[in-house]
Amino acid sequence: MDAFIEANLRNWESRVPIHTRDSGGFYDVAGFLAGADKLGPIEGEEIGDVAGFDLLHLQCHFGIDTLSLARRGARVTGLDFSPSAIAQARTFAAQTGLAASFMEGSVYDAASLTPGPFDRVFTTWGTIGWLPELKPWALAIAAVLKPGGRFYFCDGHPQLDMLDEKDGKIVLGYPWRNTAAEPCRSEWPVTYTGDPEPLSAPLQYSWAHPVSDILTALMEAGLRLVFIREHEAVPWRPLPSFVKGEDGLWRLPAGAHAMPLALSLMAEKPAA
Ligand SMILES: C[S@@+](CC[C@H](N)C(=O)[O-])C[C@H]1O[C@@H](n2cnc3c(N)ncnc32)[C@H](O)[C@@H]1O
Repeated sequence: MDAFIEANLRNWESRVPIHTRDSGGFYDVAGFLAGADKLGPIEGEEIGDVAGFDLLHLQCHFGIDTLSLARRGARVTGLDFSPSAIAQARTFAAQTGLAASFMEGSVYDAASLTPGPFDRVFTTWGTIGWLPELKPWALAIAAVLKPGGRFYFCDGHPQLDMLDEKDGKIVLGYPWRNTAAEPCRSEWPVTYTGDPEPLSAPLQYSWAHPVSDILTALMEAGLRLVFIREHEAVPWRPLPSFVKGEDGLWRLPAGAHAMPLALSLMAEKPAA
């Protein structure tokens, strides 16, 4: 594991107990434990019917979305590199009585770590920005899919990741692409849920991947695009001026220049 990934692992390990405590209700852990489906309005609709499918959730974090997919009838496996996240996901599975397998490891090693092949591979909201390269990501997804199986992706739009806010104005502040060797380095004192507890490991590295790199990686891995969509909302507050809607999603403030904030796609492994 290289130094960037090691720093990111420490960062995620420091977030898990704060997310589990969920003091501000960002994850609605209490609602999840009470039986709620925690998929958001975009991915919850676009993933379609998963009942009876073998489904792999990549970067599953502490398993709330994975277990929500189990509630929809999928046979689910979650994969994440954070031991604390995987331990908490197993605890949530036990607490809710939902059947699920959770594996610890890198997305790139999904084929050797998970009991595939799968009908669906699912990954959402906070995914490829943590990965230095997309070719091994796409190859891992193609390797674990059954012929005819589908990959669903939904995340912040690469254009959103370029934005910053200065003196109340939204400006371009971040690169549109990084090489694997030159990620963005940042130290956010707290996590994105709004909990004020300082992170014990705030250092993180991230990579910007433009739409062309995402599509090229999937195409070169042999997947065929089923749909690609852009959305004007995301489930977290990317910048202070964003406004929360009744659906729980955050949008640009009134009067701001409209632009896509989220990107989703479905891609299929050819049947033959
Ligand atoms: C923002 S969270 C994804 C949350 C997810 N949408 C959910 O709530 O179910 C990002 C996750 O990626 C994981 N992660 C980051 N880099 C990874 C890697 N190289 N391999 C596997 N997991 C990774 C982190 O541990 C974290 O749980």
